[in-house]
Amino acid sequence: MKLISSQSTRRMLEGVAEFGPTTRGDASGIARTRVAYARAGAPVGTMPPTEQSAAIEAALDKLGARLQFERSGTRLYEALVSKVDAYGTFRGGPTRDDLIDIRNDEHHHALLAQELIRALGGDPTMLTPCANLHATASRGLCDVLTDPRTTLVEGLDAIIVAELVDRESWDQLVTSLAAASVPEQLLNQVKAALEKEEEHLRLVRTWIAAARATRAGADT
Ligand SMILES: [Fe+2]
Ligand SMILES: [Fe+2]
Repeated sequence: MKLISSQSTRRMLEGVAEFGPTTRGDASGIARTRVAYARAGAPVGTMPPTEQSAAIEAALDKLGARLQFERSGTRLYEALVSKVDAYGTFRGGPTRDDLIDIRNDEHHHALLAQELIRALGGDPTMLTPCANLHATASRGLCDVLTDPRTTLVEGLDAIIVAELVDRESWDQLVTSLAAASVPEQLLNQVKAALEKEEEHLRLVRTWIAAARATRAGADT
């Protein structure tokens, strides 16, 4: 094993000598280019002009992001169910039904976001700037979860990233909708979704802790 490692190290060092830097510049050159592009560039997206107030428009932007993220979350949990089907679970880990329950919550939240966008006079088929940003930021999660080599525990390590974002984003949405003075009944639906997301985060944390305990037990 040590022999393979030293051979690999030697090859890596040969590679460094063979494929040296293609420029004499350093990171400051990249930074200067970034700043120049940022100053000259346009925003990543804008909301289409509407008759709505700025506060409603801001809430619609965030709702667009929730719709996109919850739809993806539904698929992420379906991929996680496949991990249980492929590898089984572990002591203290999620059952298939636990994951299906959360999958159904995510789906319900996507439908809720869609309904709220319509209720505020928006178009649920529109990709809002915030939705675009979140889709880009979370792109790697799908790669981890749909990779057939990743285990259930590795899938949970990825999905907790989604749940942290989810909890934070529903929280921000409550603030955004309250600022837009939406009807109490709509706000309560969003608060109920936030409570569900807090529960998801708590469950995923518990499962990751159980996996760590199982691994520690196996090592002793
Ligand atoms: Fe969610
Ligand atoms: Fe969630």
